[in-house]
Amino acid sequence: MVGVARKPDIAVGSDSNTLISNQNTRKPGQIEMRRMTQTKTQITPCKVLITGTAGFIGFHLAKLLLSEGFRVHGFDGMTDYYDVKLKQRRHQMLLQNANFTMTEGMLEEADRFWTVAEEFAPDVIVHLAAQAGVGYSLKNPQAYIESNIVGTFKVMEAARKLEVRHLMMASTSSVYGANEEMPFDECEKADTPLTMYAATKKANEAMGHSYAHLWNLPTTMFRFFSVYGTWGRPDLALFKFVDAILDDRPIDIYNNGEMYRDFTYVDDLVRGIRLLIDVPPVRPDNRADIAKGDSLSPVAPYRIVNIGNSEKVPLLDFIDAIEDVLGKKAKRNYMGMQTGDVPATWANATLLQDLTGYKPEIDFHTGIERFVAWFREYYNK
Ligand SMILES: NC(=O)c1ccc[n+]([C@@H]2O[C@H](COP(=O)([O-])OP(=O)(O)OC[C@H]3O[C@@H](n4cnc5c(N)ncnc54)[C@H](O)[C@@H]3O)[C@@H](O)[C@H]2O)c1
Repeated sequence: MVGVARKPDIAVGSDSNTLISNQNTRKPGQIEMRRMTQTKTQITPCKVLITGTAGFIGFHLAKLLLSEGFRVHGFDGMTDYYDVKLKQRRHQMLLQNANFTMTEGMLEEADRFWTVAEEFAPDVIVHLAAQAGVGYSLKNPQAYIESNIVGTFKVMEAARKLEVRHLMMASTSSVYGANEEMPFDECEKADTPLTMYAATKKANEAMGHSYAHLWNLPTTMFRFFSVYGTWGRPDLALFKFVDAILDDRPIDIYNNGEMYRDFTYVDDLVRGIRLLIDVPPVRPDNRADIAKGDSLSPVAPYRIVNIGNSEKVPLLDFIDAIEDVLGKKAKRNYMGMQTGDVPATWANATLLQDLTGYKPEIDFHTGIERFVAWFREYYNK
C-alpha cells in the first residue's frame, strides 16, 4: 500500500487491524465473509477544522470531539436558510468549551477559508457546511452551486495545501436518486440524482476523488441517511411534525404515506464520523487488494461510506411514534409525491461496521422521545 507520511510532528500510532468483510454483495442475511486488512491510523485526539458547526450535525460532532479532548475550530456562514438564532445558540453552547474557537464566514468568499485554515493548521478537516435540503433546491438552485460546488472546492484546496491527514466530506443518501436496489450499497452505481441538491453532492464526490488521486489526499465521503435528533433542523420532517401537532396544525404526508426512511439518530451518526477519523483511506497497490464490498478507489486514497441506521422505517410508523410520545393525534393531510423526492431510503452500513465496529444504538422511538423532550424545553411548548 502507498502511504504518505504527513505531519511527522504528531504522534502516530498504527495498528494493522484485520477487519471482516462480506465476500459477496453484502445484503442482509448473507454471512459469507472474507478477511480484509485496513490500516487503522490513530491520529486522534488532534486538531479538527469542522465546517458547518452552527448547523445541526456539525454542532453535535464538535460537541463529541470536544468531549474527547480534541481541539476544534468551527467555520460557518450562519446562512438564513433557517432560524439563525438556533445556529447562534449552538455556537454559544460550543464556545463554553475552551478548546472550541470559531469563525463566521462563507466558504466561497475569496481567501476567507484559506486564511482561517492556514492559521489553525488542522490535522483533519470535516466538511459539513452545505446548502442542504431537497425541496429548497427546486426554488434556489444557485445557492447549491455556490455553497456546495464553489464552497467545497475551497475546502479541498485548503486540505491539499495543508496536506491534512484526512479530509472527510458530507454527501447524502439522495445521490442514490432513482436506484431501486435496496439497501443502498456504496459499491453500486449512483448516477441518477433527481435534484440539484443530489447533483451537487454527487459532483462533490467526483471532485473529492480527483483530489485524492492527484494529491494523494486521504478522503472519506459520507453518505448520511435522514438524520434526526435534538437541536435538529426546522426544515426536516420530525421538527415540522412535532411543531404542527403541538399547534393543532395539519401535517403534510407525501405519497399518501407510502414513504420509507432510514432514520439515523444524530448521536449515532457523529459517533460514526468520529470512528472514521482514524481510518483514513490508503491508496491500494493494486485492485486485487480491495475487498469485495469496500468502496475504496483502485487509484486513490478515497472511500465512500454510508452512515445509516440500516432500518427501513415506514413513515407512518414514525408518525405513530411521534403521536405516542406527544400523547396527541396528528391531523393528517395525505398528499401526492413531491417533485424530486424518493419514496424510500435504506442504508447498507456493513462497510462502516467493518471499518470501525460501529453499530447504531438509538431506535426511532427513543430518538423521538429525546427530540421531543429537547423541543418542548427549548421552545417552551
Ligand atoms: N441532516 C440530514 O438528514 C442530512 C442528510 C444527508 C446529508 N446531510 C449533509 O450533512 C451536512 C450537514 O447537514 P446539517 O443537517 O447539519 O445541515 P445544516 O443546514 O443544519 O448545517 C449546515 C451549516 O452550513 C452552513 N453553511 C451553508 N452554506 C455555507 C457556506 N457557503 N459557507 C459557510 N457555511 C455555510 C450553514 O449556516 C449551516 O449552519 C450537509 O452537508 C448536508 O448536506 C445532512
